[in-house]
Amino acid sequence: MHFNKTVTTLALLICALFSPTLSSGATVNDRFTVGKGSFLLNGKPFVIKAAEMHYPRIPRPYWEQRIKMCKALGMNTLCLYVFWNIHEPQQDYFNFTGNNDVAAFCRLAQKNGMYVIVRPGPYVCAEWEMGGLPWWLLKKKDIRLREQDPFFMQRVKVFEEKVAEQLAPLTIQRGGPIIMVQVENEYGSYGENKPYIRAIRDLLKANWYTQDKEGKSVGPVLFQCDWASNFTMNGLDDLVWTMNFGTGANIDEQFRRLGELRPDAPKMCSEFWSGWFDKWGARHETRPAKDMVAGINEMLSKGISFSLYMTHGGTSFGHWAGANSPGFAPDVTSYDYDAPINEYGQATPKYYELRKTLAKYADGHKLPAVPKPAAPLVSFPKVELTSRIPLCQFITRTVKSHDTKTFEEMDLGWGSALYSTTLPDISQPSRLTISDAHDYAQVFINGEFAGKIDRVKNEKSIVLPPVKKGSKLDILVEAMGRINFGRAIKDYKGITGDVTIATTDGQHDVTYNLKDWTIGIVPDNVDTLATQSHEPYVELLTHLNLRNGDKEPSVFLGSFNLSKVGDTFINMENFGKGQVYVNGHALGRFWRIGPQQTLYCPGCWLRKGKNHIMVLDVVGTANPVLWGQDKPELDKLQLEKTNLHNNTGDKPDLNSRTPAFCGALQPGNGWQTIRFDKSQQGRYLALLIGSNQSGKEVSAIAELYLQDTQGHRLSREPWTTKYADSEEAAQGNHTGDKVFDLQESTYWRTATGTSLPHLLVIDLGSVQTVTALDYLPRVEQGAPGSIKDLKVYIY
Ligand code: GLA
Ligand code: CA
Repeated sequence: MHFNKTVTTLALLICALFSPTLSSGATVNDRFTVGKGSFLLNGKPFVIKAAEMHYPRIPRPYWEQRIKMCKALGMNTLCLYVFWNIHEPQQDYFNFTGNNDVAAFCRLAQKNGMYVIVRPGPYVCAEWEMGGLPWWLLKKKDIRLREQDPFFMQRVKVFEEKVAEQLAPLTIQRGGPIIMVQVENEYGSYGENKPYIRAIRDLLKANWYTQDKEGKSVGPVLFQCDWASNFTMNGLDDLVWTMNFGTGANIDEQFRRLGELRPDAPKMCSEFWSGWFDKWGARHETRPAKDMVAGINEMLSKGISFSLYMTHGGTSFGHWAGANSPGFAPDVTSYDYDAPINEYGQATPKYYELRKTLAKYADGHKLPAVPKPAAPLVSFPKVELTSRIPLCQFITRTVKSHDTKTFEEMDLGWGSALYSTTLPDISQPSRLTISDAHDYAQVFINGEFAGKIDRVKNEKSIVLPPVKKGSKLDILVEAMGRINFGRAIKDYKGITGDVTIATTDGQHDVTYNLKDWTIGIVPDNVDTLATQSHEPYVELLTHLNLRNGDKEPSVFLGSFNLSKVGDTFINMENFGKGQVYVNGHALGRFWRIGPQQTLYCPGCWLRKGKNHIMVLDVVGTANPVLWGQDKPELDKLQLEKTNLHNNTGDKPDLNSRTPAFCGALQPGNGWQTIRFDKSQQGRYLALLIGSNQSGKEVSAIAELYLQDTQGHRLSREPWTTKYADSEEAAQGNHTGDKVFDLQESTYWRTATGTSLPHLLVIDLGSVQTVTALDYLPRVEQGAPGSIKDLKVYIY
């Protein structure tokens, strides 16, 4: 069946290639241009209704069904990123085949009557490993990413040429579906650097533009996307400017500045966030359908173009999920995004709601029928994976080094590394500090678990018991996705600095800086793992078994049987933390803490009868039982402790303190700066909210910054939430950290039913001198939950 489907797809593809009439209407002389107040298709106003979807997040056999779903929703365009790191996994080794065949994806779009917007980076963000940049760039230690670093720019040039080789023949000018190409991505959230943006623009122009008969340079419309609050920082005169914002945002406000600067420019929301992504250890994110539909209705009624990010999110298979910063907040595998088309390609209630609205704007055309799902949903009963091999037997090579080494220094992109050394005699309890362990470190002494250091929780050290000279120290470090947002994208993996032990010899404090490491490498590459002979490495033989009670880091092998092939969701809640492979396909990461407990396993990767499953579990389990469900579980947390910050021991006593500011804030949307009478010193920022603009009890804040004595915003990298009297975590993810997560669309909100005053305390990580506070209320119309009477303390 599966075979037949592939043949049909191929046949259709060939038809599309040679077909003289192209179904998106594009012929060689078509034009897509920028007019007064709107985009123009062959000279007529054209409103872009784009669906964002990412080809690597959808198995190729399902591409066409997903495209048809977007078409039936009422969209006329697809918007996609090009992900550099899947196309150039090793320097100078390019892959545009199979699931990476982005040109085939665009041709399929055209075959189905859709235009295409291409966003070829080089950086894409997208909750994708390193924002799409290849990890091997980090082998050049002093590299400046997304800047005019010579090596970075040279590699960008090579990559963008390869992309254009694939896609430039598919522009509308050349009879293809591609109407627009994006220059970089939300650069304003990274920095201010017009020369760099110009260089990327010029590179894209050189690769995508051709000369017409009159010798004029022609090509797709080039644009740059940013936020309403920062798009002027890098805005180039000759590029179209589009805005990104989420459902619920005040749309007029989002386009106000653009209207002032360029009254005649077409308006487009290039990322209208339908939902949001999930991170490990926090509740599943949702956004109301009502707000999304209302926003789209409003935009269409005003002739504003949009791209709905995501219309279908799909899955960040394998090791491709990224992580957010400040701090380290790795994204889950599912990229469901609470989008209208769910992770497995089916229409949600949100889809039908939106379809009703889009049908009104279909220029009198009837929308095509909603296609059937690409595969049925199936389940399979519990299976125990009886074959277990200690993880250390999967060490493929070892590196000896005086100092610790990062993964990148050892030419390792992803996976785990076991850092081993021997200890001196330490007769007292001591403190072991790793600065830093990226990302999840488990410490073993003589093979026994001694503690973990979890970067997500900002942990740096553990207490060790007294040890005898020559005891073996093993640190198993598992890497998660590289940070994809903000300056922290330069995210080295493994142990990135020193490992020290602080203790006392009874008289003096003593610190040991541990050296002479043997580092065993366990890549997460399924091919490597599957071909392993399981012969342990001699150097590590003595402590191959890393015990943690009844658990041990392991690879579990087994199989499950299917009488009928279909999509299924493999429940991993009995396992610890790691990755799953089925029939050689990497399904992605799992982690017991949730909220995602099942991994989407597409039916096109399954077969009738026996299917092989391999679970690489860096923590291990005493109960290696899993099963297949016919629906996903994306919202089950199994946290060791609550993620709320309401521990009364952390609540400061502010009575005796003088506030740095005491007064009333302005109502309405937009940033406000609260200047202190004199500069203030302290490690903590406390906001005591006396009342809200609405007169109601629920308070909310989208973002906060502190300014230093120069008026510059402090880095929020070390910030953590110290205390919040109330956080809405039951109905959504509105914990305190949302005020410094760099996202204007996310916010801290107090739970309904908790009364004023509200207190939020941020730990700045160290003592700082500050002069002002920048405050952003929620970006939705009317700024819900915005604050009126406020006292600010720095202490
Ligand atoms: C930004 C980026 C996207 C994505 C969204 C959040 O808008 O441009 O790539 O990361 O945030 O989902
Ligand atoms: Ca925020």
